[in-house]
Amino acid sequence: MLRVVVCVSGGGTNLQAIIDSLADGRIRNAQIVRVISNNPGAYALERAARAGIEGVCVSPKNFENRDLFNDALLEAIREADPGLIVLAGFLVAIPPQVVSAYPGKIINIHPALIPSFCGKGYYGLKVHEKALARGVKVSGATCHFVDEGLDSGPIILQKAVEIKDGDTPEILQRRIMEEAEWVILPRAIDLIAAGRVVIEDRRTRILPAQE
Ligand code: GRF
Repeated sequence: MLRVVVCVSGGGTNLQAIIDSLADGRIRNAQIVRVISNNPGAYALERAARAGIEGVCVSPKNFENRDLFNDALLEAIREADPGLIVLAGFLVAIPPQVVSAYPGKIINIHPALIPSFCGKGYYGLKVHEKALARGVKVSGATCHFVDEGLDSGPIILQKAVEIKDGDTPEILQRRIMEEAEWVILPRAIDLIAAGRVVIEDRRTRILPAQE
């Protein structure tokens, strides 16, 4: 059984997609053992509580400096003894000590088709504003492993979403969440729980399902 820690900062719709996918069998052989938020007011913590999942808040505001926060975040993760850490709308830079403690065991969901519209400053609505400003006809979401860079780890799954006339950043964000993020993030967790995702020189290969 894959022990999963989910890190959140906001509304938690991706967390909810994981919770719902565990309940209906789209994700097998896994369980969320802890939800960690940097934001005490994150609605994602409500979603965790409603699902009977332990929620922990580790807020940078409660620590004298970033190093102390980083150590506390690592400790909060370590206590839960995860086999996988999922960043689901987590807006905190992942401390290097967390990345080095869990190599190949941290995944993130990004609301664009990496390598487009990613990296420093590309998060939340800003991603969609830039995509619309560029005039792309297709955007989407990417689920990838987290490495020491920003949105730079091996890509696991991607799903494209068509941009429509009249799209605003808010409309596009919602469509990408509904049609892409909430589909590929649970799918990636199920594949990882089944041992079907291998990393080969910075790319991934999805192994066929065992008959
Ligand atoms: C979403 O836009 C997602 O693309 C990004 O974080 C935002 C909030 O997600 N990863 P959630 O509703 O908190 O899961």
